[in-house]
Amino acid sequence: MVLPINIYSDDILRKKAKPLKGIDSGIEELIAFMFETMRNASGIGLAAPQVGHSLRLLVMDISGLKSYADAAPMVVINPHILAVRGYNDMEEGCLSLPGVHGDVERPAAITLKFRNEHFEEITGEFSGMYARVLQHEIDHLNGTLFVDRMEKRDRRKIQKELDAFSSGNVNAAYPIAREPLTA
Ligand code: NI
Repeated sequence: MVLPINIYSDDILRKKAKPLKGIDSGIEELIAFMFETMRNASGIGLAAPQVGHSLRLLVMDISGLKSYADAAPMVVINPHILAVRGYNDMEEGCLSLPGVHGDVERPAAITLKFRNEHFEEITGEFSGMYARVLQHEIDHLNGTLFVDRMEKRDRRKIQKELDAFSSGNVNAAYPIAREPLTA
């Protein structure tokens, strides 16, 4: 099932999401729906809060990117970044901000502890697009969006688009969810 995706000014995107205590059939179903939703929207990462669940869960599939064809899809639960190395700049986008892109500086490599789809604990080193997407999605679990990390000068250039989202004006090529606008 393709789930509707929450957009920029929706409150759920600003909440700190809750850790999972384990996996049950409901979570397994949510994970399957998240992969379906992400692929339907041509995304490479999706966090549970983006589809209305304030849980520390994200999915990722970067195998459509050049030079990552062998990358296996990942389910990441309760992630903790243990260490970071280096920095780089990369342009990001987000399914919750359709059409908006901007440069963000982030650590180039991370050491990540998390649980997989079997709730097994894993510690791994990630760099390149893995590190980039994982950090973007982990931000979602903490109520942070990539535009929050853009330089002020760059952010001013997209402020109109952000304001349009806030006023309910959204064009997306996939189903979106909107919380009621608050005055
Ligand atoms: Ni995003």
